Amino acid sequence: MPKQIPLILDCDPGIDDFIAILMILAAPERFNLLGISVSGGNVPVKYTALNALKACELAGRRDVKVYAGCPGPMLRPLELQDEVHGETGLKGYDLPAPSMTLESKHGVDFLIDTILASSEKVTLATTGPVTNVAVAIVREPRILDNIEEIVTMGGSMALGNITPAAEYNFYADPDAAHILYTCGKKITTVSIDITHTAVTSLEWLDHIETLGHVGKVVSALIRPIHEWDVANFDTEGGAIHDPCVIGYLLDPTLFKGQDVHVEINTAFDVGRGRSIVDWWHKRSLPANTHYFNEINSKGFYELLTGLISRFQNLPKINEVRS
Ligand code: BDR
Ligand code: CA
Repeated sequence: MPKQIPLILDCDPGIDDFIAILMILAAPERFNLLGISVSGGNVPVKYTALNALKACELAGRRDVKVYAGCPGPMLRPLELQDEVHGETGLKGYDLPAPSMTLESKHGVDFLIDTILASSEKVTLATTGPVTNVAVAIVREPRILDNIEEIVTMGGSMALGNITPAAEYNFYADPDAAHILYTCGKKITTVSIDITHTAVTSLEWLDHIETLGHVGKVVSALIRPIHEWDVANFDTEGGAIHDPCVIGYLLDPTLFKGQDVHVEINTAFDVGRGRSIVDWWHKRSLPANTHYFNEINSKGFYELLTGLISRFQNLPKINEVRS
């Protein structure tokens, strides 16, 4: 039995972040979730916070602590992704207002205090713009000594998904992403190079819909992403980026990649947020990340399906409308 991972998720839910939270909560034997921090990103922080609470409540986990952090990027105005995720971030299913409340501590203070206090090294998963994490590193670099691994969803060595050059999370706060990749810790990168190759199918969405209440919610939430990606990218389904981070933590054998150097473009022009991935080691710089270029899509969806099916026996919580 693999050991339980002491985990923090920093995120911006967002539909796919929401599903990443459900995956963590579906596997309590694998994750000791120390808390969730949220920032502004896909939608404003008031909604990302609310959506994280809704995910915990849907999973029957009112005990999880959720902390609101930075409302926007370090140096730039926040650019939302609400066309994809909807105004409140969970287009596709109207979940009831949560009865859980946010913790009063700021997300950055939570990151610093929790990582410093942990008796075991903490794994940090990030699925949004990495503003909270970057501010925590700048304010208290000693946290890096007590971090086992930082797994981040972001970047692209091919095309971007928000501009031709950049993936959304790194575009949203490139300065924070730059701090992450220069912090001295080797980052694990889950980019859209792989998430765009592990896309949803209508058959899978139909199947998920039959897996109890949570399955129905998940299926309804992912359908707009499926439609958006089919309409906007050359894919046959929707890329559910953030769950791939949790997929990696649960089963690293589903992923293949190599150690490379990545530099984040912090310009204010069309190159903003581009991750310059030195796949062929042209620059002879030391590797600062393990970068995946392959995912076992079938294996990933089997894993995700299994996790969603675990919720089947949960009673419906505070359901007002379905
Ligand atoms: C990333 O951008 C967001 O819209 C998703 O939640 C994901 O984290 C993919 O580019
Ligand atoms: Ca996200």
